[in-house]
Amino acid sequence: MVESSFSVVVPASTANLGPGFDSIGLALNLYMTVDVSPSEDWEVTYKDDGFEDLPTGEDNLIVKTVTDIADRKGLVVPVSRLIIQSDIPLGKGLGSSATAIAAGIEIANQLLVLNLSEKEKVLLGSGYEGHADNISAALLGGVTISYFDGVAMDIVHIPEPKMGAVILVPPEALLTEASRGLLPGELSHAEATRSSAAANVLSAAIARDDWETAGRMMEKDTFHEPYRKKLFPEFDRIRKVCQERGAYGVTISGAGPSLFVAVKQGVESELAMRLAAEFPYYDCIAVKPSIEGAMIELRKEQAPR
Ligand code: HSE
Repeated sequence: MVESSFSVVVPASTANLGPGFDSIGLALNLYMTVDVSPSEDWEVTYKDDGFEDLPTGEDNLIVKTVTDIADRKGLVVPVSRLIIQSDIPLGKGLGSSATAIAAGIEIANQLLVLNLSEKEKVLLGSGYEGHADNISAALLGGVTISYFDGVAMDIVHIPEPKMGAVILVPPEALLTEASRGLLPGELSHAEATRSSAAANVLSAAIARDDWETAGRMMEKDTFHEPYRKKLFPEFDRIRKVCQERGAYGVTISGAGPSLFVAVKQGVESELAMRLAAEFPYYDCIAVKPSIEGAMIELRKEQAPR
């Protein structure tokens, strides 16, 4: 018997890039691949270490996304087996939950033949996430600059940013809710105006591939960095060392705990090696932007006899 199955490939992402809080996302070339095939029950298998604590049935985030979309559309989704391989560290500020939600949206779109537009997918995903930064980058790739107020959405997509990056990943995970819990309920008008100006210049600089300016603006955030950075060992010294080595800028990756260093295209591996020697607490990973967002790969498989 020949059964048609498919895979979904979704990139990691870093969010905020400093003052682009809850708005700017950048897809990175670390990927999660989900192989989808028909099954009797929802069964999720993670092939890599580090995912042991995740649910493997109907309460898995990917499965919950698929079944919720089916419910909203009033459709019955074919029950499937999901086999997952992932390079994306879990709970480390690299958009792992957005990656899972993006995978769920693509699987629902495929299994239910929904023909969702890119904007419909991002709107759905932003509703689940509560903000658009990681999910839009995971779905579209490149850099995304989004406005989302819970209902209305606008996105500017910059598909091929010309830069490289190093991610410093500490050993322990941090829940986004815990990191968001550190933020103040209110900001002064003057502070909000200053960070908003930094975000404006950051966005315009990214759109022009002026990463020198973008990197300076990344370091001018007052929306979240001042409240979160104390959690990350040696944050200020890492920034200083990266500045001395010619990096464009250093900021928190999403809600943390990883740190994001924007660098000139091509120098990321050398800087990652130097930072690994200087800051052994962190796993230093050289990355590039992922030009591709979430992708479906169709495959035909011979089922076992
Ligand atoms: N913009 C989000 C935050 C990203 O910084 O809390 C993590 O979901």
